Amino acid sequence: MDPKMLESLRLSMQNRPEYVELDGIPLPKSTCDIWDRILSFQARPDDLLICTYPKAGTTWVHEIVDMIQQNGDVDKCKRAPTYVRNPFIEIAPPKPLPSGVEEAEAMPSPRTLKSHFPVQLIPSSFWEQNCKVIYVARNAKDVMVSYYYFQKMNKGLKEPGTWSEYFDAFQSGKVAWGSWYDHVKGWWERKDRQQILYLFYEDIKEDPRREIKKMAQFIKKDLAEEVLEKIVQQTSFQAMKVNPMANYSTLPSFIFDQSVSPFMRKGSVGDWKNHFTVAQNERFDEDYEQKMSGTSIRFRFEL
Ligand code: A3P
Repeated sequence: MDPKMLESLRLSMQNRPEYVELDGIPLPKSTCDIWDRILSFQARPDDLLICTYPKAGTTWVHEIVDMIQQNGDVDKCKRAPTYVRNPFIEIAPPKPLPSGVEEAEAMPSPRTLKSHFPVQLIPSSFWEQNCKVIYVARNAKDVMVSYYYFQKMNKGLKEPGTWSEYFDAFQSGKVAWGSWYDHVKGWWERKDRQQILYLFYEDIKEDPRREIKKMAQFIKKDLAEEVLEKIVQQTSFQAMKVNPMANYSTLPSFIFDQSVSPFMRKGSVGDWKNHFTVAQNERFDEDYEQKMSGTSIRFRFEL
């Protein structure tokens, strides 16, 4: 990036953003400012949308899907960082940087796009064009911990406050992209009405080979056994942690300060046990039972 542009970006990132509620969902103000552009986004029939609540394993699934689409060609997957390969449709960085919508519009088909929107905020053209969507869900306890560390290091989000304050904010949905509960339930209820593959982070962790096969089948790609094996290796936590095209190390530290917390932090199931107090865990479980009653989704909090 041109040094002048970089400096202006650095200055604009000095203050953490405000959130504005859109249909009751807190979002960075910059996203709400371009809401009309996002709402009228034109999806194409061969677009693939990868949608998640933040910290559910978005980047992991992006890497897997790209490896499938490139038939296991590692060099092709290293052509650009994740955020360039997969435009994030609701992101609106300071001008003159292009918004996610502008980046997507400039991209030739077939496109793989990213969103963290709850199902009701997805631009309607995705449904009109009958686009395929891969939704990835992760258990709320691990998401909460991962999001807490992410908010510390990501200058594009609010400071998380103390862990105890964050626990309350997360449980009441007062974090960017809203309530985890509404998000996972909303997509779950929609999944049989559209072409939606609903996956779980814990399942991918348990048996990446099985879940990669599911993704390949969904996007209609045949994978040779050795390609499948290569994808499993290349998209492991250890491999992605040292891959600059997948670990966000290409972003300047005034955006993602990885000395505060690395983007590829732990990549495990059950790290919440190192953070939740006994009392928080009891409160969480009580609240969870109530908020998740009436849904058939089953999350695993440990493997
Ligand atoms: P942790 O903070 O728990 O380590 P997202 O891409 O949606 O922002 O999610 C980031 C989370 O996914 C981080 O979780 C990150 O470490 C984890 N992750 C990324 N790649 C992974 C991989 N290959 N295997 C396991 N976890 C991965």
